[in-house]
Amino acid sequence: TWTSSNIIDEQVAAIRAKVGDKQVLCGLSGGVDSAVAAALVHKAVGDQLTCVFVDHGLLRAGEAEQVEKDYVAATGIRLKVVDAADTFLGHLAGVTDPEQKRKIIGREFIRTFEAAARELDAERHIEFLVQGTLYPDVVESGGGTGTANIKSHHNVGGLPDDLQFALIEPLRTLFKDEVRALGAELGLPEEMVQRHPFPGPGLAIRIIGAVDRERLDILRAADLIAREELTAAGLDRDVWQFPVVLLADVRSVGVQGDGRTYGHPVVLRPVSSEDAMTADWSRLPYDVIARISTRITNEVREINRVVLDVTSKPPGTIEWE
Ligand code: XMP
Repeated sequence: TWTSSNIIDEQVAAIRAKVGDKQVLCGLSGGVDSAVAAALVHKAVGDQLTCVFVDHGLLRAGEAEQVEKDYVAATGIRLKVVDAADTFLGHLAGVTDPEQKRKIIGREFIRTFEAAARELDAERHIEFLVQGTLYPDVVESGGGTGTANIKSHHNVGGLPDDLQFALIEPLRTLFKDEVRALGAELGLPEEMVQRHPFPGPGLAIRIIGAVDRERLDILRAADLIAREELTAAGLDRDVWQFPVVLLADVRSVGVQGDGRTYGHPVVLRPVSSEDAMTADWSRLPYDVIARISTRITNEVREINRVVLDVTSKPPGTIEWE
């Protein structure tokens, strides 16, 4: 029968048998899949595992720290952090096209990860790469579902031929809720285990317009408020994802205190979904929406208007880009 501790014991034994005394590498994204996969491998082979976290500067408030501090404290994993924010933001400067943003981020991600992998490989010859592939990912990539490629999704892509590792995919037979249960059993931080899905290109595709540090800070502040209020209302599990989108090139007139303002709107996009293929807008209680709106416009100076997206998917996608 399925229990988290059975699965953990089985996987730990299987990983040990496969890895022997060789070295293993895993890239962490901040998401639950890679975090749980790495924790399992660490439980199996300890310090033979090294993790790499590429901080592209496009995560939400507190997420990089969660990986660097809380996750490391919870697991004892050896982590190499690559602070690549300057590089990513440099390449993204002035870019407004969503697909262009994705291409740049995907390309830079692979470059950065590859450089880190090369360095580690030179230090301690690496034989294996851990990936947090889930069962639905396996079905989707092998099954040829024929869904149109509307957005080019860039997760970790291929490494060059001279840097090939054998894969370890300890979550290949599992669904998301099972992975969360494993993560909890392994003692990972609650916020990480319960995190909503978050796109690889991060906040870059939630800023409509060009991405820069100032805009990222504005969006981070608004996004944090929305997340805090959703959690405070006990609604995290009723919502599949809750993008907050900054319309960075739009301004509208407002009035705050004794003056006229000319600030930016943010869009709240809470959705309910089973698998992200289709979605509906979440009927959040009005008082929760009101609190989020009041706090954002009070606490984030540059934002003077909050709007709610009431579009289902289709026709609207979950993200705005
Ligand atoms: P859409 O916006 O197409 O999103 O309804 C469906 C799901 O995919 C996520 N998403 C992405 N994930 N790279 C990712 O890793 C991407 O470029 C990307 N674009 C969208 C989105 O957050 C939702 O969960």
